[in-house]
Amino acid sequence: MKPKVFVSRIIPDQGLELVRQACDAEIWQDEMPPPHEVLLEKIRDKVGLLSLLTDRTDAALLDANPQLRVVSNMAVGYDNIDIKAATERGVPVGNTPGVLTEATADFAFALLMASARNIVQGADYVRAGKWKTWGPKLLLGADLAGATLGLIGFGRIGQAVAQRARGFNMRILYNDLRRVPEAEKTIGASFVDLDTLLKESDFVSIHTDLNAQSRHLFNAATFAKMKRGAILINTARGPIVDQTALYDALRNGHLRAAALDVTDPEPLPMDNPLHTLQNCLIAPHIASATDNTRGKMAEMAARNLIAGINGERLPTCVNPEVYDRK
Ligand code: GLV
Repeated sequence: MKPKVFVSRIIPDQGLELVRQACDAEIWQDEMPPPHEVLLEKIRDKVGLLSLLTDRTDAALLDANPQLRVVSNMAVGYDNIDIKAATERGVPVGNTPGVLTEATADFAFALLMASARNIVQGADYVRAGKWKTWGPKLLLGADLAGATLGLIGFGRIGQAVAQRARGFNMRILYNDLRRVPEAEKTIGASFVDLDTLLKESDFVSIHTDLNAQSRHLFNAATFAKMKRGAILINTARGPIVDQTALYDALRNGHLRAAALDVTDPEPLPMDNPLHTLQNCLIAPHIASATDNTRGKMAEMAARNLIAGINGERLPTCVNPEVYDRK
């Protein structure tokens, strides 16, 4: 008999086929994620969970089935999972680092360019029939060449964004908990403290994970330190930005624009005032959404799941301490 697992949405075939071959898989068919209480029920007779970032995997869920051998999250981020609780219970948690770096960096850069050059506003203007003539002052944007890009977080994705920025002749600053001297040299980026980055950057792009320190890292005080007319890009996690403070900074013109692929919550309710601002571009958390990348993420998540149910070390495990305990 194949081991029973729960897959919390229909993921790309590249992963689903591997799961189906190795497991007796129950696959949640709805477009919407399973409600938490349904997930608690579903997990009771399963030994593995392939989750998405929309699934809250907390102590209650882990306790719903002490036989659970693995949680494999199809995402690089794992703030939806209580890692401490998983580790305490000896459950390894997998994620999908690396394979989504380029797609996510592409999208961050696309948001940067779209907000710098009013691409969405331009398309809306044309579609609304407002385009009468070439206008010498129509939809003027901001230059990239010579501008300063400040990266919050200089891991895989931050560095990949820096590589793109280099091709656009931007000056690159970064702030991170640790310096990356090798990448500083090869990419041409300078480490600075956070205040300097905020003060000097024309564009600030967020590439850190969500944790206690980064939650609301961008708040009213942070925005006040940013250069007047700067543009904020967030492809990391919504709660890193205090959205009320962002609204004020955009509304009063201190920031020129923001482009967000992530919000808090997701989706952002339609009565959120950010939706009323022309200078706030919001995308539905699609930075890693390419055929190729989502296929690779699904495959990686499947391999983590299968390793976990077989009692093998996960290829990419976020809490390897579980193996030390055994
Ligand atoms: C997407 O946000 C991810 O963490 O993979």
